[in-house]
Amino acid sequence: MKFFIDTANLDQIKEAHDLGILDGVTTNPSLMAKEGITGEANVIAHYKAICAIVDANVSAEVISTTFEEMIKEGEALAKLDPKIVVKIPMIKDGVKAIKYLTGKGIRTNCTLIFSAGQALLAAKAGASYVSPFLGRLDDISTDGLQLIEDIRLIFDNYGYPTEILAASIRGPLHIVNCAKLGADVITAPLAAITALLKHPLTDSGLATFLADHAKASGK
Ligand code: E4P
Repeated sequence: MKFFIDTANLDQIKEAHDLGILDGVTTNPSLMAKEGITGEANVIAHYKAICAIVDANVSAEVISTTFEEMIKEGEALAKLDPKIVVKIPMIKDGVKAIKYLTGKGIRTNCTLIFSAGQALLAAKAGASYVSPFLGRLDDISTDGLQLIEDIRLIFDNYGYPTEILAASIRGPLHIVNCAKLGADVITAPLAAITALLKHPLTDSGLATFLADHAKASGK
């Protein structure tokens, strides 16, 4: 399973990259705004800064909503760096834009997926990734993991090459459950990824090993 980090924070992207397990970065307009990145020139510079840190793909989201504007924006984003994957919202013009950009050899990530039907349409249009939002479904008492399972079944039934990029991940258990269900990729905040490291028995076991070694060495 591939690990993407879901942030526009350069320090966190560096930290995940240094861990050696990073396969990609996802951003969205809210994450960019959280870092105080506003204005077209600053947004573009920030995408370039992210691409310079990672040896991995970087999802950059369009902010337009018509077919003509989305393909123009998508082509411009794709030209910034070969690592860029154009993130397109699941709307009617978005599906058309995915089909068009795919035809031009530009990779796309269809975002804001909340149903299996939406994922199926995005795959039909040729999206490289679909991003089902687990956490936001869980937030409204709907089983986000069930959606991952359903999309996995549908894509496997027809051999769609579109990768399932589980998004809106809230914690380490979401990541483990996505791995069990066969999601191709998870995108998560750094805290959810590093939480996978933690186990109290690891900490106490290591402390005992080091103490026993020190005792045996007469230290
Ligand atoms: C990633 O592609 C999504 O934009 C992101 O995971 C949304 O997460 P949120 O629900 O925590 O905002």
